[in-house]
Amino acid sequence: MSKSTNIIWHESNITKADRYKQNNHKSAVLWFTGLSGSGKSTLSVALENELFQLGIHTYRLDGDNVRHGLNKNLGFSPEDRSENIRRIGEVGKLMSDAGLLTLTAFISPYQEDRDQVRSILEKDEFIEIYVKCNLEACESRDPKGLYKKARAGEIKGFTGIDAPYEEPTNPEIIVETDNQSLEESVQVIINYLKEKNYLV
Ligand code: PPS
Repeated sequence: MSKSTNIIWHESNITKADRYKQNNHKSAVLWFTGLSGSGKSTLSVALENELFQLGIHTYRLDGDNVRHGLNKNLGFSPEDRSENIRRIGEVGKLMSDAGLLTLTAFISPYQEDRDQVRSILEKDEFIEIYVKCNLEACESRDPKGLYKKARAGEIKGFTGIDAPYEEPTNPEIIVETDNQSLEESVQVIINYLKEKNYLV
């Protein structure tokens, strides 16, 4: 619940449309969601490289990184994960207002939390990208050894093991990292952005 009272919104003179004109591309939040080890971070890094080469103004927010700073006081209970996603959504909105194409890579396991972020952004400003990869493949990759620890009971409430992951019901984009190469997945997203005129 909001604790702020007596606060009044102050409009800026520079609009998002002005920034769009100057940057020559739209702003949006590219919201990657998927299991640990599904490839969210790898994909967002590779995509950001491509976009940067195209002269697009980007920024990347990543679960592990953001939890070192802004969200270092949050754990992995359902409530903390929701607060994590709420804050990232607000940061993404600010970055989008600033004219950036923002790439966020968070498990974001709950549909309701992702929908909440969608609801604070304008239509077409939220692009949900489901990084689909079956649990078996994620677990066999286990880049940080966390699945092993979760199976051994050393981590409680690990997504996909003893905490839920709700698959997106209606994502704008699905990439299947257990079926596609990294380059293919990146291309699927670039094609979407071009078709929908984000990169004009
Ligand atoms: S969430 O659910 O969106 O709030 O999670 P996120 O901020 O993306 O952080 C996920 C990374 O934290 C590590 N980690 C865990 N993941 C899932 N469940 C539990 N219990 C957990 N504990 C630590 C893990 O490295 C995740 O990184 P990725 O890149 O997804 O593997």
